[in-house]
Amino acid sequence: MKVNAYSERWLQRDFPWVYPKEVVGKRERGGSQVILEGPSGAKLGRAIADDGWIAARVYRQDGGPLSQAWMDEVLDAALEHRQRVVGGDTTGYRLVHGENDGLPGLRIDWWSHYAVLIADTPAVGPLLPLVTDWLIRRLTPRGIYLSYRPDPRDDRDASRFQPPAGLLYGKAPPADVRVTERGMGMLVRPHEGPDVGVYADMREVRAWLEPYWGGTSVLNTFAYTGAFSVAAALGGAAEITTVDLSPHYLERAEANFRTNELDPTPHTFLAMDTFKALDRFRRKGDRFDRVVLDPPSFSHSGEGRWSAKQDYPRLVSAAAKVVAPGGWLIAATNQGDMSPKVFRGLVIDGLRKEGRVAQELLWAHESPDFPALVSFPEGRYLKVGVWRLR
Ligand SMILES: C[S@@+](CC[C@H](N)C(=O)[O-])C[C@H]1O[C@@H](n2cnc3c(N)ncnc32)[C@H](O)[C@@H]1O
Repeated sequence: MKVNAYSERWLQRDFPWVYPKEVVGKRERGGSQVILEGPSGAKLGRAIADDGWIAARVYRQDGGPLSQAWMDEVLDAALEHRQRVVGGDTTGYRLVHGENDGLPGLRIDWWSHYAVLIADTPAVGPLLPLVTDWLIRRLTPRGIYLSYRPDPRDDRDASRFQPPAGLLYGKAPPADVRVTERGMGMLVRPHEGPDVGVYADMREVRAWLEPYWGGTSVLNTFAYTGAFSVAAALGGAAEITTVDLSPHYLERAEANFRTNELDPTPHTFLAMDTFKALDRFRRKGDRFDRVVLDPPSFSHSGEGRWSAKQDYPRLVSAAAKVVAPGGWLIAATNQGDMSPKVFRGLVIDGLRKEGRVAQELLWAHESPDFPALVSFPEGRYLKVGVWRLR
């Protein structure tokens, strides 16, 4: 497949994608292997073509075959890195981080005894047997699930992707699977992948916070299954309020307390829009020593549309109103196309509006099992800051 000079320059700098407008002549059918060629005739590697918003993903710069031996080498290297950076007391982690580990379009999460493959596109289909073969030989999983998470820019209907999402190998677990994050138990559902019940990319942020929860009052908003709340409880927080729109996730948060032998009953679980909850706390005069904000990039609620880009300063202002003097704001976004500089600016705008003087305590990204390839700016998506508000 021929590409233009612009694409050639990027590919020579190890960028792993070719966009449709960079293809010269006809695109190849999704899933077919192609050798990329620049205008100078230079061979730019072996790729798999796609029919979506990306025209091809590069797997081998040297043009060699996508063989089992090649896959074994890629996955062995990924596993070796996780064995170094993920401790023995963590059984839920990212085993392969797509482009950043040399496997564009395909992530693999490991949950105790289950693997969840997260494909951006059905074009990676030819790679799946190679991956499952390696997983079975090297990690003896009880089950391997396939799930799809197409990029929002991909307008194809993922429910029609082949092979269909679901169990690829082994057996479904009889109940929720208990994984650990640095010893903290969390219950996950591999068949609900990609979002099974824990976001492992936040592990190091929770690790950093661990010594500082003792005796505090905590407000965890956009809490999902409550990983920050459970971490706070294990760290000795005095009172924990967990807020999420979904009552179903809050039930799972309570179950996550119990699986750590923590009694959820003295704590508060509130199924409510975060903005509404923050407003209620402000009116009641409730103040918290730690406030966690970890919203999705986009969401719809009874309150209308939320977009991190537009609404983050307003969210920070509302949160700052309920942070006690000397309290900490922990704010995160997983929006890949927002730069760290822009995100920090949005948070600071919100704090300034409330007239809160802030000291930055931590600036963090994903845990190291989510490495970011420097030639792939999209690889670094998570941004997290901790600020102390005077
Ligand atoms: C990115 S996840 C949060 C992950 C969580 N902090 C963790 O570490 O596991 C986003 C969560 O926000 C919830 N959510 C979305 N819109 C909301 C809203 N307006 N108010 C409260 N929760 C909301 C979703 O139900 C989802 O559980």
